[in-house]
Amino acid sequence: MSALFSPLQLGTIQLPNRIAVSPMCQYVAQDGQATDWHLQHLAQLAMSGAGLVMLEATAVEPRGRITHGCLGLYSSQTASALERVLRVARSMAAPGTRFGIQLSHAGRKASSRVPWRGGAHLSTGEAGAEGEPWQAVAPSALAFGEFPLPTELSTRDMEAIAQAYVAAAQAAVRLGFDVVELHCAHGYLMHQFLSPLSNQRDDAFGSSASARQRWPLQVAERVHAALPASVGFGARISASEWTQGGLDVDHAVHFSRELQRVGADYVCVSSGSVDAGTRIPFSPGFQVPFASRIRSETGIVTRTVGAITEPTQAEDIIANGHADQVALARAFLADPRWVWRAAEELGATTFYPPPYERAKGLRRPPAR
Ligand SMILES: Cc1cc2nc3c(=O)[nH]c(=O)nc-3n(C[C@H](O)[C@H](O)[C@H](O)COP(=O)(O)O)c2cc1C
Repeated sequence: MSALFSPLQLGTIQLPNRIAVSPMCQYVAQDGQATDWHLQHLAQLAMSGAGLVMLEATAVEPRGRITHGCLGLYSSQTASALERVLRVARSMAAPGTRFGIQLSHAGRKASSRVPWRGGAHLSTGEAGAEGEPWQAVAPSALAFGEFPLPTELSTRDMEAIAQAYVAAAQAAVRLGFDVVELHCAHGYLMHQFLSPLSNQRDDAFGSSASARQRWPLQVAERVHAALPASVGFGARISASEWTQGGLDVDHAVHFSRELQRVGADYVCVSSGSVDAGTRIPFSPGFQVPFASRIRSETGIVTRTVGAITEPTQAEDIIANGHADQVALARAFLADPRWVWRAAEELGATTFYPPPYERAKGLRRPPAR
């Protein structure tokens, strides 16, 4: 019996296996709206056999997009573009596959070029090639690397953004998403509130670890309250900033407990800094120890991610109790049939769409 292919309970929803497609920005949306690219991208991942397909970071307001190509869920146009993609993806999905959306706000990392054009701020380099820059906001007026200074958010602006999160979550429910996740990692707005490196406010939302957690937790509590019990709820967190003076795994354990208290069914444990210069020491499964510690100390359903590429590696993570679920990102881009390979290598069963059934068994490793 494969542990990786055993079902997982996430709140009230059941996932057919422990494999998730990790959220991946595609940077090809138009005015926040999903395009035909999203249709093919998500349709192929929907039929992959992964128990959960997470959609990319989706901005709750236009200025919360990282780039002009980021998805949004803040208008009737963005909602209907996403509705079409989700409807098609669902129609092609493996039985039991669930879809999640990651709600996000880029904060001071907004108004960037797309990665394949270098990812710098839009105001640098050839003006106007991708569209006009816009003014970013952040907990404090502290710049991200070479980016211009963001505007410090007033409590009134914070309230407006909190309402945008709730409205986006309600829209996600109307569209039929099964899971709603808050992006609290990778240096974006929630993370900017959490980190002492980017939050130097002296009001109730800064100045101590619990004050820095206050706004993200208030948003989490309100989003959770807006979701029906049939929708799973969680957050992606950075368990380490890999930066002197930044967040560490002790913080992540505490924050996970707090997320659990306000209704989160799970945490997805990633890492990364608000500091533009920090490099992440990637190696196979390098974030698994963070997930393992959070899982054992809090008991919350824990997803691990990062440099997981091999079926036996994923199987061992679940079988040894380091995490409840694994998410893969780049491995799914390289091989959207990764789940078939995993099932054939681990001797588990998975779904093959009938028109592709004759490919069954072709990914089995050669007999020794
Ligand atoms: C193209 C691409 C886009 C990504 N976009 C997101 C995103 O929207 N939200 C997020 O939390 N992480 C994002 N990530 C990070 C991945 O979800 C994942 O955590 C990271 O790539 C490590 O997993 P991997 O080694 O399996 O690729 C992205 C990664 C890639 C490669």
